[in-house]
Amino acid sequence: MNRIRIAVQKSGRLHDDSLKLLKDAGISVDNGREQLKAASGNFPLEVFYLRNGDIPQYLRDGVVDAAIIGENVLVEKGEDIIMAEKLGFSKCRVSLAVPKSVKYSGIEDLQGAKIATSYPNTVKEYLSKKGITADLHIINGSVEIAPNIGLADAICDIVSSGSTLFKNNLKEVEVMLKSEAVLAVSPRIDSEREEVLKKLQFRIKSVLRARN
Ligand code: PRP
Ligand code: MG
Repeated sequence: MNRIRIAVQKSGRLHDDSLKLLKDAGISVDNGREQLKAASGNFPLEVFYLRNGDIPQYLRDGVVDAAIIGENVLVEKGEDIIMAEKLGFSKCRVSLAVPKSVKYSGIEDLQGAKIATSYPNTVKEYLSKKGITADLHIINGSVEIAPNIGLADAICDIVSSGSTLFKNNLKEVEVMLKSEAVLAVSPRIDSEREEVLKKLQFRIKSVLRARN
């Protein structure tokens, strides 16, 4: 039987819980932080450990058949990719935040503002629906520092516990998206692997049911 190739975050917030889900589903895989690929010994599955932001393209190209990924990444980079299952962990929001000292009375306050973000597509779409045009500065990490160094008036990033916002004297003013880990499927999966995927999904569903 052909092995299903599934992408899992190499390092970062989803990594541990993704492997835990597979483990709870009775699928054993080596924790491959060192190796980029690991096959399961008891299920026709192979894990590819990849960078978050690269996963949508791998799914699109059919290099992997499925992925455990944050919904926020799919919304930003992979709206064409199928979300098969919400997985109930790594819950977060993608939000807009401004300095605490700034009086915020509504989205119109962001007209013409400089916004620092790693989520340009998500922000653009949200703002355009509200008739707002802003000046986006794309940065890949430590986004919350931008207002403090005079780089931006506002930021858009992931909020989980809220502690990064708090530490940087920012307040969340708009929640653009609520996100959690999802099982995503490549539009190019073949029919044989689709059968394996169904088995995997069946197991995942029973794990999720037992967790609730
Ligand atoms: C992520 C994200 C936020 C923070 C949110 O950053 O970009 O900054 O976590 O989590 P919190 O609300 O629980 O503080 P991360 O620490 O992964 O670093 P990076 O942005 O530099 O990649
Ligand atoms: Mg961050």
